[in-house]
Amino acid sequence: QELKLSLEQIEKGGYEHFMLKEIFEQPKSIHDTMRGRLLVDEGVIKMAGIWDHVEKFKNANRIIIIACGTSWHAGLIGEYLIEEYARIPVEVEYASEFRYRNPIITDKDVVIAISQSGETADTMAALKLAKEKGAFIYGICNVVDSSIARITDAGSYTHAGPEIGVASTKAFTAQLTILTLIAFKLGKHNGNLGNAEFMSLIAELDAIPKKIEEVLNTTHELTQNIAKDFVSATNFLYLGRGYNYPAALEGALKLKEISYIHAEGYPAAEMKHGPIALIDENMPIVIIAPKKGHYDKIVSNVQEIKARKGKVIAVVNKGDQQVSSMADYVIEIPETSECFSPIVASVPLQLLAYYIAVYRGANVDQPRNLAKSVTVE
Ligand code: G6P
Repeated sequence: QELKLSLEQIEKGGYEHFMLKEIFEQPKSIHDTMRGRLLVDEGVIKMAGIWDHVEKFKNANRIIIIACGTSWHAGLIGEYLIEEYARIPVEVEYASEFRYRNPIITDKDVVIAISQSGETADTMAALKLAKEKGAFIYGICNVVDSSIARITDAGSYTHAGPEIGVASTKAFTAQLTILTLIAFKLGKHNGNLGNAEFMSLIAELDAIPKKIEEVLNTTHELTQNIAKDFVSATNFLYLGRGYNYPAALEGALKLKEISYIHAEGYPAAEMKHGPIALIDENMPIVIIAPKKGHYDKIVSNVQEIKARKGKVIAVVNKGDQQVSSMADYVIEIPETSECFSPIVASVPLQLLAYYIAVYRGANVDQPRNLAKSVTVE
């Protein structure tokens, strides 16, 4: 027992939990995921899995992304990325729904499965179905040689390293990194992403690990302090627009998985179609409001929340004034192009969920009823 404990402590590298260690590993895991692929000086993205089958992608009727849980949220952001930069239609589906609804799939479709473990039963079954129907199937997995990695026609590994905490953190941002690379590569190849914009986007992507490092430094203590005020909360709303709508879903999922506080993510504009009825002085609302990305619209959402006395925790860019002046708590992140904001904004939300759970005495690395890899239906 003693030996086991000390081994585990060594593995945790001085962190109290694997989850915290993995949150802090993100500058490295994102960098590792880009290494050898993103060649900024040469202006090239090298991805053999994509390049060897680039005509399949280029001529695809559509790309269908299938996944579960956090990987599904990465898929939603992948949809925004691929549609914006490569202009290829994308659909995102829960693997469990896809597999049972007799979906229309042809050999003109490309199906991308996203899975950290590469073993999720529903994702595996959905892929088999797509393969039977003739689709080209592509995997984005973290675990090398996993079942999904083996069954797919091609793929790109996220090099996040082993993820032990049940709640996915570094695997998620590594998935976003791969999806960003794919979107830029396809867009460059099919001419929808011009060279100048491509060059400036890849330079910005290359600097993301540094920005994550900065965010970890500037928000670590802050999120602990904010967390202390919400230990007894029973509900949370997470709101975002555009690329940050899926980031809001993921922020809410992190909180519910590990702290057992009910949390819902919503596109901010949908607030008026339901969730606004829940807002009073007891409702904490996390709102992701970077400058680039419908900022003015978010400002009016915050006004609506404050008029109902909701408690606003705002994730904004450094130097923000309008949203910050209304918010009860302000978390600053560096400014980026909109497409990178979910990667950067996710980090303080992971920390916030982590500390709320820790202060509630929850077992953050192994939350009740959840498994790291769901190999049954
Ligand atoms: C489980 C895990 C989640 C994960 C989901 C999908 O529910 O607890 O963290 O996002 O499965 O797993 P996958 O390995 O396919 O990404």
